[in-house]
Amino acid sequence: MEPPMKLLQDDAEIDGLADIMVREGVKSYLEIGSKFGGSLLRVAERLPAGSRIVSVDLPKGTKAWVQSEAELKAVIAKLRLKGFDAHMIWGDSTAKSVIDQVRALGPFDAVFIDANHTLPYVEKDFSNYGPMARIVAFHDIAWCRAPEWVGTRIDVPEFWERIKTSGRRYAELKLCPTAKNNGIGVLWQG
Ligand SMILES: C[S@@+](CC[C@H](N)C(=O)[O-])C[C@H]1O[C@@H](n2cnc3c(N)ncnc32)[C@H](O)[C@@H]1O
Repeated sequence: MEPPMKLLQDDAEIDGLADIMVREGVKSYLEIGSKFGGSLLRVAERLPAGSRIVSVDLPKGTKAWVQSEAELKAVIAKLRLKGFDAHMIWGDSTAKSVIDQVRALGPFDAVFIDANHTLPYVEKDFSNYGPMARIVAFHDIAWCRAPEWVGTRIDVPEFWERIKTSGRRYAELKLCPTAKNNGIGVLWQG
């Protein structure tokens, strides 16, 4: 039996995102930040065979790189075998060469932004990839820590609170039992 794919998400939230993708008839899905490929596989497998699936990830972008590179490559291969038009683009999501490669495969029905969670990167990912998709989702909108927290910086909640009041339709999936992790925000562009 295959080992379960490592998923850096709350199960109910990522399934909720996939439900939205299915309801919206998504046939092309871009993911910025895939690590082991857990969310990529979980969402893609709910989409019609033949859907275009594009992942962007940063070589050596995680401490678990040796394992995450191998697992993400395996997810892309698995999706291809299942008949998906799956593509992997390695590089910094903010680099022009990466944006150009993604644009050449677009436009997309949906993009899920889950890479570098600091404000400058989230803003750039939104401004670079948001216009390529009619639905834009963000991970970690519900991340919440005490002010003295010294771990990885996650600015997505601040960004999301700003962007969700921009007059566009949006949905929030905040189902994580701890109430201080995860959270997915979905924004409709049109
Ligand atoms: C939180 S993990 C993604 C988890 C994945 N979406 C899931 O739920 O299974 C973040 C990923 O973003 C990648 N990343 C970080 N900064 C990046 C950047 N500037 N460009 C592209 N990928 C980046 C990291 O290498 C890492 O694999």
